[in-house]
Amino acid sequence: MMNIVVCVSGGGTNLQAIIDGIADGKISNTSIAGVISNNKDAYALKRAENAGIKGVCISPKDYPDRESFNEALLEGVDKFNPDLIVLAGFLVNIPEAMVKKYRNKIINIHPSLIPSFCGKGFYGLHVHEKALERGVKVTGATVHYVDEGTDTGPIILQEPVRVLPDDTPEVLQRRVMEQAEWIILPKAIDMIAKGMNR
Ligand code: GRF
Repeated sequence: MMNIVVCVSGGGTNLQAIIDGIADGKISNTSIAGVISNNKDAYALKRAENAGIKGVCISPKDYPDRESFNEALLEGVDKFNPDLIVLAGFLVNIPEAMVKKYRNKIINIHPSLIPSFCGKGFYGLHVHEKALERGVKVTGATVHYVDEGTDTGPIILQEPVRVLPDDTPEVLQRRVMEQAEWIILPKAIDMIAKGMNR
């Protein structure tokens, strides 16, 4: 059984896709040991509670400096003893010590086709605003391993999504979630879980 920790900051629709994927068998041999959010008001924590999954809030606001927050975050992750850490809309820079300790065991979902519209400052709705500003006809989502950079680790899966003429950032974001994120993140976890069985 592959134990995962899911790190969230917001609505948790990607977390929900993982919960549902485990329930309907799309994700094999996987259990969510815990959910960690940096935001106590994240609806993702409610989704975890509704699914009977332990949720914890580790917020930078509760620590005197970034270093002590980073240590608390790594301790919080270690407590769940994960085989895989899934960043699902997690708006926190992952501490270097965590990347090193969990090398090739942290994955992230990004709402564009990396290397487009990624890196520092490209998160959430802003990604889709930039895609529309540039006038791309196709965008999508990417699941990648997390390394010391921002959205720079090895790509695992990508899914393209067509941009429509009257798209607003909100409409495009929703389509990318429905047609890409919520499909390739569970799929990537399932692929890794199967590889775990090797
Ligand atoms: C989404 O735009 C996702 O692409 C990004 O974080 C945002 C919130 O996702 N990674 P969620 O609903 O909290 O899963």
